[in-house]
Amino acid sequence: MSSLRAAVSAARKDKKIVGFVPTMGNLHEGHLELVRQAKQRAEFVVVSIFVNPTQFGAHEDLDNYPSTPEEDARCLAELGADLLFLPEKETMYPGDLAEQTVVYVPKIGDLYCGQDRPEHFYGVTTVVSRLFNMVQPDVVVFGKKDYQQLAIIRRMVADLAYPIQVVGVDTVRADDGLALSSRNGYLSDVERAKAPALQQALQSIATELQSRGAVASKKALKQLEDDAKKRLAADGWAPQYITVCRQDDLQPAKRGDEELVILAAAQLGNARLIDNLEVSLS
Ligand code: PAJ
Repeated sequence: MSSLRAAVSAARKDKKIVGFVPTMGNLHEGHLELVRQAKQRAEFVVVSIFVNPTQFGAHEDLDNYPSTPEEDARCLAELGADLLFLPEKETMYPGDLAEQTVVYVPKIGDLYCGQDRPEHFYGVTTVVSRLFNMVQPDVVVFGKKDYQQLAIIRRMVADLAYPIQVVGVDTVRADDGLALSSRNGYLSDVERAKAPALQQALQSIATELQSRGAVASKKALKQLEDDAKKRLAADGWAPQYITVCRQDDLQPAKRGDEELVILAAAQLGNARLIDNLEVSLS
């Protein structure tokens, strides 16, 4: 921690803009793209790797979460990240967890993934706000892959008056359209071949919305969402939600809304996959 503070203050003394990319490691091209984007906007880039226990539910994959620290450090050095921050659990959560402050973004944090995984976003916003205070960045870079997470962080930054610019980066995908994710490693070969169907389901909803040219009614949207869920379920998926909502506040889309995003989460074998697709009807 003290070496992080010393390095960041030295960068500030040199009038450098400080960029920050928080991650949980097992870095893939999606993460690396965030680091490249941070390097374009900042002269001193900090990347953190911390598998944050408080954002995992009791039956989730915390203990099996993939960890590849040497490979991660090598990729980051190659990209020219200036500092890799690898805090211990005690640095992030000193003392009794049950007594610590929790950062909670209501409403937007209670929807979708917040409904399926009630503790998840408290864990994210609490650890991210602590990381922001430790790193004190000018600009932070997050992926649109976790669209709801990005919207919640933007809201937290605004509400808590963090003097930080939040940048969202487009999802990096495999050639067949699957969004890169550390959790793709949980898929068997057969499941991996099936996995692009999630993005394809979102694309078929987007095509339908575009051909209609407008959101006609909540009922019409529900029909589209339910049809997509049914098709996935018939192919061995367990869809948790597929929902057409507004890009800014993630509330369900209503008649006349034009800047939309379709959000989805679905279980395939041992992997819970999320994806999204922005659609503009204007
Ligand atoms: P993690 O899942 O490691 O993701 C770190 C960052 O990488 C997030 O901003 C995420 O949206 C982005 N990312 C992941 N896959 C991506 C892809 N295919 N394309 C573009 N960006 C991608 O998200 C977390 O960690 C944690 O919740 C964290 C914010 C670090 C808090 O613990």
